[in-house]
Amino acid sequence: MIRLEAVSQAYGSFRALDGLSLSAGPGEVLGLLGPNGSGKTTTVKVISTLLQPDAGVVTVNGHDAATAPDAVRRSIGLSGQYAAVDEKLTGYENLQMVGRLYGLSRRDAATRAGELLEHFRLEPVAGKRAGQYSGGMRRRLDLAGALVARPPVVVLDEPTTGLDPRGRMDTWSAVRSLSAEGTCVLLTTQYLEEADQLADNIAVLDAGRVIAEGTAQELKDRAGSARIDVVPADSTDSERAARVLERASGNIEPAVVEAGGSRLGVPAPRGEATLAAALDQLAAAGIPVAEISLRRPTLDDVFLRLTGTNAVPAGAGDENGGAPNASDDTPEPVAAGVGGHGRQGVRS
Ligand SMILES: Nc1ncnc2c1ncn2[C@@H]1O[C@H](COP(=O)(O)OP(=O)(O)OP(=O)(O)O)[C@@H](O)[C@H]1O
Ligand SMILES: [Mg+2]
Repeated sequence: MIRLEAVSQAYGSFRALDGLSLSAGPGEVLGLLGPNGSGKTTTVKVISTLLQPDAGVVTVNGHDAATAPDAVRRSIGLSGQYAAVDEKLTGYENLQMVGRLYGLSRRDAATRAGELLEHFRLEPVAGKRAGQYSGGMRRRLDLAGALVARPPVVVLDEPTTGLDPRGRMDTWSAVRSLSAEGTCVLLTTQYLEEADQLADNIAVLDAGRVIAEGTAQELKDRAGSARIDVVPADSTDSERAARVLERASGNIEPAVVEAGGSRLGVPAPRGEATLAAALDQLAAAGIPVAEISLRRPTLDDVFLRLTGTNAVPAGAGDENGGAPNASDDTPEPVAAGVGGHGRQGVRS
């Protein structure tokens, strides 16, 4: 339903997309995950014909975006990164208008608007002008707009950014029902948990390229085994604790030390056995521990491994070879050493 082959897009001399290839079939939810500036919105624009790429082929629902952009647009329901609603119309009127533009009868457009207002809990404000909506209400109205015509392909650019937890749940349930009905959904997100929850397949973008793809589980497997997190009782012990933990985990890679040394992390290739070894060796070294835990890898770990950053903004065109680039005042974990976190599993 969506296919991108070797798509490139430059803004001036800057390459936002660099030979990007993706595909998603009917009923599939494809999650596009990447740090700020990695090219997610540019990909959305190319798919929805808002941008004509410099190179490569984009097809949607069997239509070539270059030669049949109208057919592509008719196949897609789009909710962009910034909610686009008509502020002068009420929520109900907005949805009804979209339905009519997509060719629904007056009655069908009204029924569909009602259903979606109910689903996204907008009924209480359905008669209010959208210009008076809160940010989250606009976002939900915009999402509802993407679903009005039941298009075979739905493209959602960061659909849950700025939503409260209930709004996020409503959106997730909408995506799940779309997929169950056979709709192909492409969704971009900063929320690793969201991709984990919703996406059948995930493509991790960095600098306009897919650097990894697979199911959430496959990506987590690539991120390595389980991990051990330790909070030393005294953060001045953190350097010593890092060395002890590295030894206990088999010296696979440097410990990840959170800013200030309050929390440390290492891989646990032998699961509980590594945890037991870490506990023993920390005790033997006389390092008191406030907290210690064994956890399965998360998509955060995937990010860290693949991009050298922890889903924090990466500067455009940043070419530091994957070394950690978090600044001193960032609260995100940074690697304690350079070299263990190079780009891995790089696809060209
Ligand atoms: N109209 C434009 N002109 C010039 N550069 C642009 C333009 N739009 C995007 N870019 C650049 O292209 C790169 C990719 O931008 P894009 O909006 O696709 O990123 P994104 O992954 O959606 O980021 P975010 O998570 O912040 O939404 C960025 O470096 C951005 O600065
Ligand atoms: Mg974006």
